[in-house]
Amino acid sequence: MVLLLKEHFKLISGTANRPLAEEVAKILKVPLTPVDIKRFHDGEIYCRVLESVRGADVFIIQPTSPDANLHLMELLIMADALKRSSPQSITAVIPYYGYCRQDKKTKAREPITAKLIANLLEVAGVKRVIFFDLHVAQVQGFFDIPSDNLDVIPVFADYIARKNLKDAVIVSPDAGGASRARSYAKILNAPIAIVDKRRPEANVAAVENVIGSVKGRNAIIIDDIIDTAGSITEAANILVKFGAKDVYVFATHGLLSSPAIERIQNSKIKEVIVTNTISLPEGKRISKLKVVSIAPLLAEDIKRTHEGLPMGIVYEGMYRKLEKKIK
Ligand code: R5P
Repeated sequence: MVLLLKEHFKLISGTANRPLAEEVAKILKVPLTPVDIKRFHDGEIYCRVLESVRGADVFIIQPTSPDANLHLMELLIMADALKRSSPQSITAVIPYYGYCRQDKKTKAREPITAKLIANLLEVAGVKRVIFFDLHVAQVQGFFDIPSDNLDVIPVFADYIARKNLKDAVIVSPDAGGASRARSYAKILNAPIAIVDKRRPEANVAAVENVIGSVKGRNAIIIDDIIDTAGSITEAANILVKFGAKDVYVFATHGLLSSPAIERIQNSKIKEVIVTNTISLPEGKRISKLKVVSIAPLLAEDIKRTHEGLPMGIVYEGMYRKLEKKIK
């Protein structure tokens, strides 16, 4: 990938996922713009950008991963510091957009927090947002600024194709994820199955049935988030009960809140693959868990945003390559 960047380009990292920002900076062959981020004794955050950003297109890389509220506040404060420093534009690169699951009222007197965060980002001065695999794509409609919701399908599909699994079935762990699973099934030329999951309460997954045939097949579960890993481990149990062979899980965002690691370790799942939208702490690295990088895709999107070039053509190229590999 040959990357030519104009002069007025700045890449900034918050504290949420510095390794990802460094990887992107390396691909783009630019240094990260230094920022001083400190905490006061009462927990308040201080931020100062340490070089001029006047006239620059500035990209801040900061997922709102755990600690979600801290990282979100840091992002808002960084945007405010930039807004007051006369850049050309501010793009918030939020590889994992927390609160995206609070996208509607399901009971009386609940908030729609995904919309609140969108408002906060715009007030802070953000002029464009880049996400990966939003929980529901409609969340883009909460923003009145341009947004890119980047797909990780080419990254995961390539990994799946290289595994060369015979008799695969693509599985959605719930009805909500069916269209995501369908996209993979189409590219990988495989059938689809859907796990009938209910949520009797937050963070509890109840699974009773599988729609579609999984008997004698290698099950590939596709999900956007692994939080407590209840959904994927319950799905794996029922898939095995219904006669599936090996069970693999591909999930974009590995939140892996306790007891996720323990559940995965003790589960019937053969391998779990997540991306680095969220930085994986040392204590959560187990052999069953693999991380693939979205940095090349993100770097390309950032570069194209800066240069005013389309991204769709890049995806088309990747899908064509995949098709050839799979045939
Ligand atoms: C739910 O709709 C999402 O797509 C994920 O399946 C869910 O957030 C995973 O949560 P957990 O790992 O706690 O079951």
